[in-house]
Amino acid sequence: MSGRPIIIDTDPGQDDAVALLLALASPELEVRGITTVAGNVPLPLTSRNARVVCELAGRADVAVCAGAERPLVRPLVTAEYVHGRTGLDGADLPEPQMPLQAEHAADFLVRALREEAPGTITLCPLGPLTNIALALQRAPEIVPRIREIVLMGGGFFEGGNATPAAEFNIYVDPQAADIVFTSGVPLTMLPLDVTHQALIKPRHLERLRALGTRVGDAVAGWLEFFERYDVEKYGLEGGPLHDPCVIAYLFHPEIFSGRRCNVRIEASSELTMGMTVVDWWGVTGLQPNCTVIRRLDSEAFFDLLIERIARL
Ligand code: BDR
Ligand code: CA
Repeated sequence: MSGRPIIIDTDPGQDDAVALLLALASPELEVRGITTVAGNVPLPLTSRNARVVCELAGRADVAVCAGAERPLVRPLVTAEYVHGRTGLDGADLPEPQMPLQAEHAADFLVRALREEAPGTITLCPLGPLTNIALALQRAPEIVPRIREIVLMGGGFFEGGNATPAAEFNIYVDPQAADIVFTSGVPLTMLPLDVTHQALIKPRHLERLRALGTRVGDAVAGWLEFFERYDVEKYGLEGGPLHDPCVIAYLFHPEIFSGRRCNVRIEASSELTMGMTVVDWWGVTGLQPNCTVIRRLDSEAFFDLLIERIARL
C-alpha cells in the first residue's frame, strides 16, 4: 500500500531538514516533491539544503523545485542567528549533486494538484507561506483539489519568536499567510504552543548518536547547533524541534490534541504584524477555518522520530 501523498514546502533550516528525513523515512507518507522558499536563509541556500537532505536520505530521485526568493510584499527577513550561515550548520555534508528541477515551485504545486483527483494531495508548509499563496493566486481552482494544508506556523498562548506577537514563518510573509488562511482550504496549524513542548533533551541527542549511523550523527550535530539559540533564549533544558511536528501529526495525530478555531492573520499593523489571532474561546462567532494544535506527547514524538531516523 502506498502512503499518503504530500508535498513539503520548506526553508531548511535544521528542523526542516529533520522533518524532511522523518517524511522520507516513513512509509505512511509518499513525498511527491519538495518546494523551497526563502526564509531561514536565502533561496539558493534553502534549495541547496533540501537537496543535501535528500541525498543524505538516499533519495536523489525526489523532485526539488525552487520557488519564491522574497515574500509577496515585505522585504525578506532571514534567521542565520538561529540556523547558522548555511542554514544547516552543525554537520559536515557534501555539496549536492542532484539537480534542481527547472519548474518554479508554484507551477509545480499547481500542476501536481491538477494531475491528481481532488482531495488527494496534502501540502505541508514548514516555512513562510509565499509559494503556497503564489500557487493559490495563479490557479484559484486548485482550492478544492487540496486535501489539506498542515503547516508549522503561528503562536498564540506562547506569543511570538520573531516579535513579541509573531512567529517567524508567519512574520516573514504575513500577506501570504493571510491568503492561505482565507482560502477555504482545510487547515491545520502546529504553532509554537505545541512545538515548544517538543524539546530536544541531551538524552535524545545521545540516542541519535548511539545509532552509529551517518544520518543519526548528522541529525544530532544539527540539533546540537540549532538548540543552542533557544536554550539561551528561553532558559529551557532543550530547544524546540518545530517542523517535524507537522510530519508526525500526519500519521500519528493521536499524540497531538487541539481544537477547531477561527484564525486570522494580522497583515497591516506594524506592532503586531504576522500575529495569528486564534479565537480559541469562540468569542467572535466567526466560522472555524483551522484545527489549532496545542498539545503533544513529547516522549511518544521523540520515540517515533528516533525510530524513523534509525531506518535511514
Ligand atoms: C519556524 O521558523 C524557523 O526558524 C523554523 O524552521 C520553523 O519552521 C519556527 O518559528
Ligand atoms: Ca522551517
